[in-house]
Amino acid sequence: MARVAIITGATGGLGKEFVRFVSNERSIDEIWAVGRNKDKLYELKKEYAGLVPVIADISLDGTDIIRKKLKEEKPEVRLLVNNAGVAYMGSYEEMGSEKVKDFCEINCTGVAVLISEVLGYMHEGSGIINVSSASSFQPNPYLALYSASKVFVNNLSRALFRELKPRKINVTAVCPGWVDTKMLPRERNGKKIRYTGMISAEKVVNTALKDNRNGKDISTPGFFSKYFRLYSKVTPTRLVMWQWEKMIGKYLK
Ligand SMILES: NC(=O)c1ccc[n+]([C@@H]2O[C@H](COP(=O)([O-])OP(=O)(O)OC[C@H]3O[C@@H](n4cnc5c(N)ncnc54)[C@H](OP(=O)(O)O)[C@@H]3O)[C@@H](O)[C@H]2O)c1
Repeated sequence: MARVAIITGATGGLGKEFVRFVSNERSIDEIWAVGRNKDKLYELKKEYAGLVPVIADISLDGTDIIRKKLKEEKPEVRLLVNNAGVAYMGSYEEMGSEKVKDFCEINCTGVAVLISEVLGYMHEGSGIINVSSASSFQPNPYLALYSASKVFVNNLSRALFRELKPRKINVTAVCPGWVDTKMLPRERNGKKIRYTGMISAEKVVNTALKDNRNGKDISTPGFFSKYFRLYSKVTPTRLVMWQWEKMIGKYLK
């Protein structure tokens, strides 16, 4: 029985790092690298012998494709990394309902459904890593759906961490601040955007894998994420939101 790691969003900044780290794990035979872009996935396959490209769009039938593959191959799933995600910075009203629906499919439904699909293939010692964000620590106007979607990821992860304790399956929500990937726009309305405390994808992934192994339900890589988690807990939410609006507002006008 093949021992498998499933990594969604494997072609992105954090996803590629997860692939790189997990490819060094001796307890994994295959990495099912999930993404929409066939060319990018086959490029990755050239680098990693055990990589199996799974072309799947999570906003469409992506989770069905993975369910069928699991049913056919009946692997042991050692690790699930729910990493695929989208962000939208701007007015919620202008986002439009179609985009809202797709967004929720990727950032929320896909995460919940995939966990449900893999649990039957996991054994003692398996792990689930769900990539959330420091945006989950408070509501973020103009990043409203994103921060709400990551609250969903945190609460699901932390509750499942406890539910799955008897099976010795660790569940970790990973909450980085800004990470240096293509997800972050570098300029808006002609203004260069400054990302305070931005860290590398390598740092996030290294910390996430260690925290999952060590049985932590929340992973806060880097100083900024730890500081921000504490700050959001002890500061009135209205004040934190006001500060965020002031910071982000200058780029949106
Ligand atoms: N960058 C940050 O500052 C930051 C901070 C905190 C948390 N995060 C979280 O980190 C995770 C990874 O983000 P990233 O920074 O690495 O961004 P990224 O480089 O833009 O990667 C996003 C990945 O998600 C995949 N994806 C997007 N829509 C998909 C869909 N419908 N179906 C399947 N895959 C889809 C993309 O694949 P395609 O090749 O198919 O587009 C890509 O591989 C996300 O959950 C994000 O919310 C990022």
